Amino acid sequence: PIMMSQSKFIHRDSLNYPYEERGLQFGDGIYEVIRIYNGEYYLLKEHVDRLFRSAEAIKLILPFTKKKLISLLQTLIEKNKMTVDGKVYLQITRGSSPREHEFPVETPVNTYAYTQNLPRKHHLLENGVSTITQRDIRWENCYIKSLNLLPNVLAKQEAKEQGCYEAILHKNGLITECSSANVYLVKSNKIYTFPATKRILHGCVRMRVKKFTADLNIPFIEEGFNLEDIPAADELFLSSTTSEIMPIIQVDGKQIGDGKPGKISKQLQEAYEKDAK
Ligand code: PDD
Repeated sequence: PIMMSQSKFIHRDSLNYPYEERGLQFGDGIYEVIRIYNGEYYLLKEHVDRLFRSAEAIKLILPFTKKKLISLLQTLIEKNKMTVDGKVYLQITRGSSPREHEFPVETPVNTYAYTQNLPRKHHLLENGVSTITQRDIRWENCYIKSLNLLPNVLAKQEAKEQGCYEAILHKNGLITECSSANVYLVKSNKIYTFPATKRILHGCVRMRVKKFTADLNIPFIEEGFNLEDIPAADELFLSSTTSEIMPIIQVDGKQIGDGKPGKISKQLQEAYEKDAK
């Protein structure tokens, strides 16, 4: 397998960073996960735009233009002769230099990207998933797609240990998002989700969900819902690059609606299906 490293293409095994690397030592970097369907990117421009916003937010100067990055990512797919469903993981850090908190001077950033096969989760998409709720203990700038994911990792692991797919996060009862996805509640044919402030990641799929609801004439209300709204919800679903539009059928052991994926969740899945083709 070929990966991209510093705008070059190398064999995956020849990537080798020094131990003093700011991504490793400080989580001082940003990333994107981009979906590939049948060897073609889905929402590539949206991901690249967000990467540039994240870079700006942490004062990271990127060594390429958006256009150049897009062409590098296209080459990556070609070099790997990728024709199936998959994803690209792209990471950029503030580079390798002796460990000091402040930014290093004139140190080039470290960039790498690689492809991975990733079949769609048909069974889960059709049947829905179970979730738990957890306190959102993250910092105030969750709109930055930064490498600092320890609270997310711990929340996801707790979900896994309880036999669940995701953790729904809340701040004082107000639902923000999941550990690695955005989350939505449906009540009386209206969709509620946390607004795109600094407190959540502005999901690329979330942007599409918003557009699908406009096309379908379903009110999309960017107002957070609360823990106590969940038992009375008609439907709940989450969205992300790797999970697409995923119905939630259980929260903390309690069934949502009739315990099956809801009508609006399915309509949005159909819209996604057409969009991603
Ligand atoms: N996660 N919120 C969080 C905290 C996320 O980590 C993600 C994506 C999303 C959804 O964003 P998008 O629709 O752009 O994928 C929301 C990726 C997939 C990950 O970290 O693996």
